[in-house]
Order: sequence, then C-alpha cells, then structure tokens
Amino acid sequence: MAGKTEKEFAKAGYVVVSNASTHRMEPDVPLLNPEINFNHVSLIEEQRRRRKWDGAIVTNPNCSTAILTLPLKPIYDEFGINRVVVSTMQAVSGAGYPGVASLDIIDNVIPFIGKEEEKVQTETLKILGSHTEPADFKVSASCHRVATLDGHIEAVFVELKRNSDPDSIIAAMESFVGEPQRLKLPTAPAKPVVVKREEDRPQIRLDRMEGSGMSAVVGRIRKDPVIGGVKFVVLGHNTIRGAAGCGILNAECLKAEKYI
Ligand SMILES: NC(=O)c1ccc[n+]([C@@H]2O[C@H](COP(=O)([O-])OP(=O)(O)OC[C@H]3O[C@@H](n4cnc5c(N)ncnc54)[C@H](OP(=O)(O)O)[C@@H]3O)[C@@H](O)[C@H]2O)c1
Repeated sequence: MAGKTEKEFAKAGYVVVSNASTHRMEPDVPLLNPEINFNHVSLIEEQRRRRKWDGAIVTNPNCSTAILTLPLKPIYDEFGINRVVVSTMQAVSGAGYPGVASLDIIDNVIPFIGKEEEKVQTETLKILGSHTEPADFKVSASCHRVATLDGHIEAVFVELKRNSDPDSIIAAMESFVGEPQRLKLPTAPAKPVVVKREEDRPQIRLDRMEGSGMSAVVGRIRKDPVIGGVKFVVLGHNTIRGAAGCGILNAECLKAEKYI
C-alpha cells in the first residue's frame, strides 16, 4: 500500500520520508541512517531526473539494520570489515499493532521474522556503501522474535580487515559523530553510539531510552576467538531509532539540505 501511495505523493511534488520497505533498495532512493550516510541525500537529484517528479522518496532502514549499522560504521572506517554475523532478539512492537498474538509469544521465542534476515543482509551494505556501490563485506543474520515490548538486542560478530583490540574499538565508537551532530539537529542524540562497560549491559529495560531512544547502546566488546575479530552486543529502540525517530531525523537532514 505504501509503495503505490508514496510514488503518488512524490509525483505530486511532496517529499516522502518513509519507514516502509518497498523503495529502500532502489538505486536512486536514499536509504538513510544519517550519522552514517547523510551524503546519500544527493541521490534525490538522480531520482528526480530519472522519474521526472518534483517530490522525493527517502527511506529509513529496517529497525534491526538501523541499530546494527551505527556501531559498524566506526569499525568499518577505522579497521575494515571482512564479514559480520548477527543474531537478533526483537521486541513484539517491531511487528506493528496488534503485533504477534499473545498466545504465540508469551513464554516463547519465535526463530523466524518474515524477510527480516534478507533486509539486514542487504540494507546494511547499501547504508555503509557509497552512493552507487554496496560496502565490500558479507553479512549473515539470524532473526528472532522475543517476548519484550520495545527494544531490539543483537549479538554481533565482526571479522576485521586489520587487527584491533577491544580498547581501540571502544575508542572508535565513542569518538564517532555524524553530520546530524555537527549540524546540531534537534533529534540527533549527542552520541550515536554509547558504550557500556558493565559486564551485564546493555539491557533492554535499563538502556533502550538512551539518547531519547536514538542511540545504539553497545556492551560486552571482546575479542572473538573463532571469527578473528571482535564480538559485542548492541541494543536500540526499534520504534524510535529503528523507525519514527530516524524518520524525523531524516526529515531534519532534508530540511538542512533545503529539500524541505
Ligand atoms: N514497528 C517497527 O519497529 C518498525 C520499524 C521499522 C519500520 N517499520 C515499518 O513502518 C511501517 C508501519 O509499521 P507499524 O509498526 O507502525 O505498523 P502498524 O502499527 O501496523 O501501523 C500501520 C498503520 O498503517 C495504517 N494502514 C494500514 N493499511 C492501510 C491502508 N491500506 N491505507 C491507509 N492506512 C493503512 C494502519 O491504520 P489502521 O490502524 O487504521 O488500520 C496503521 O495506522 C511498516 O511499513 C513497517 O514495516 C516498523
């Protein structure tokens, strides 16, 4: 439904900032997680030329992807990445209202979320890539629905191109800021990635509202003895950073670039 309607709005001259997945992977549609790829906004020019419309469609990532890509960005820039393996534990609000039937999810974990793994595997590379080329590593995702309300938590294993250690990874994550922070956009959190040093964090109930729900909260950064790199846990609020909050931040970016 959103796919058809969004095109009609763009044709009528409106700028559409969408949470829906339909247009995300089209080459002339920006898929923005703006601390990472703010510069992809300029794809709008190509989109307008090709589609002969005055409006625009700009998309947000899938919720798990929005959360995963924030800590991957400083790692990718400073150390390079060969491959990423990620296992998600996703809240029921990710399924929209009324969500998963209570008799299916209470006292349960469901090891399947339709099309979710494919989205994480492809969108991650588009966001971390250039305007025209996806990032040059592979992603394998396993996605699971768990009985929490809000907040997706992900166990991430990263094979690095260049050797590193947990302290250097933490330093890279803590110094990471993007264009939304430099422009002081209202919805931009001060820190896109917050690192927790306690051994039992991040936790869903304690940490999902970090940065008003816009920060990715990382913990348990340690060497991985098998994959040849690091492993960590990342938590993010799926309906804020993973959906509407990111949409609002994207709209603020478009305003800063005078598309709105
Ligand atoms: N929830 C998340 O964590 C999340 C994260 C990232 C992206 N998204 C994406 O965001 C979009 C919305 O998700 P959601 O979680 O907000 O879902 P939701 O709670 O199911 O809400 C969907 C909304 O769309 C409306 N709607 C459905 N069919 C419609 C139609 N034919 N015409 C007009 N309105 C229609 C519904 O209206 P009624 O209530 O009147 O039926 C409802 O308000 C989806 O594309 C989803 O994939 C969600």
